[in-house]
Amino acid sequence: MSKDFNINQLIYSFKSKNILSQDKKDFYFKRIKSLLDQKNAVIVAHYYTNPEVQYIAEKTGGCVADSLEMARFGASHPAVTLVVVGVKFMGETAKILNPEKNVLMPTLNAECSLDISCPEKEFSKFCDENSDRTVVVYANTSVAIKARADWVATSSIAVELVNHLNKLGKKIIWAPDRHLGYFIQQRTKADILCWNGTCIVHDEFKSKSLKKMKSMYPEAAILVHPESPKDIIELADVVGSTSQLIKAAKTLENSIIIVATDKRIFYKMQKDIPEKLFYIAPTSSDNATCKICAYCPWMGMNTLQGIIDALKNNTIDHQIKINESLRKKALIPLKRMLNFAKSLKIN
Ligand code: 13P
Ligand code: SF4
Repeated sequence: MSKDFNINQLIYSFKSKNILSQDKKDFYFKRIKSLLDQKNAVIVAHYYTNPEVQYIAEKTGGCVADSLEMARFGASHPAVTLVVVGVKFMGETAKILNPEKNVLMPTLNAECSLDISCPEKEFSKFCDENSDRTVVVYANTSVAIKARADWVATSSIAVELVNHLNKLGKKIIWAPDRHLGYFIQQRTKADILCWNGTCIVHDEFKSKSLKKMKSMYPEAAILVHPESPKDIIELADVVGSTSQLIKAAKTLENSIIIVATDKRIFYKMQKDIPEKLFYIAPTSSDNATCKICAYCPWMGMNTLQGIIDALKNNTIDHQIKINESLRKKALIPLKRMLNFAKSLKIN
């Protein structure tokens, strides 16, 4: 891996792909702001959405956040319509918590490999076969999986929650992300039986290449999302949710930050800390063609035109609809999660 080639590619490929001209920014801002006002709506977006989406979300008074904060923002905001810009489970979480609100998404086809990896029938059987265990599921799951769970957790609070349950003497089922499950087990020493799902984005980070990168930049800090494989986590200075990684990027003294998560998190990091250098952790070894995947394809499906279409058309291909009895069941573990997060005073 040549030092100059690699680093320049990482930085420039991110920046150049995502710049909108000022005219286009002004056009989309005016159009979307006026639709949001007309419909009494607000945008709730994730840090992995495209930079122009994050820009418009913030400029129109919406939020750009991690999954926990997205859930809390949607539940506390007075708007009658939530435009959730992220993947489907995020829209569903908003609808479970706010059935009275109209929850729209730019596209309902924005899936998540973790959600897909955990089909309801198989998971229910797994839970039945291990009925002595408390079922804790990641927020990245369908409504049916949440409805089967005792608790929901996001990566911001998963370790604390399982620690709490472990202290109560509970044995745990964790689903669907096996890497996150392993990380939680290492941190808590709880008895955890893990579902075998992975995030296709984080699963691609390669420790051999990351070690090389670190040897070229020994002064760099490595920040890792816990959906990454164990050998990547072992190289991390900080492991955390997207918001925790952004916080770490600000507070750490290192002037170079290597990040193992979706590269669009750099929009926020670069905006808040322009003096630091941010590099994407490698997703391939030497001689491979893809050096920097680190890009969730489903998050990338959310476009500014999609936001306009959702607000303007308000049709079933944008609306989140959930069966009411399933929603009520899924609400119980989700509420538990929010109350638990409140008790931790996570911000
Ligand atoms: P966060 O809750 O950390 O934002 O993670 C959500 C996610 O899907 C990461 O891949
Ligand atoms: Fe799901 Fe991975 Fe995309 Fe996050 S990055 S939404 S876990 S597929």
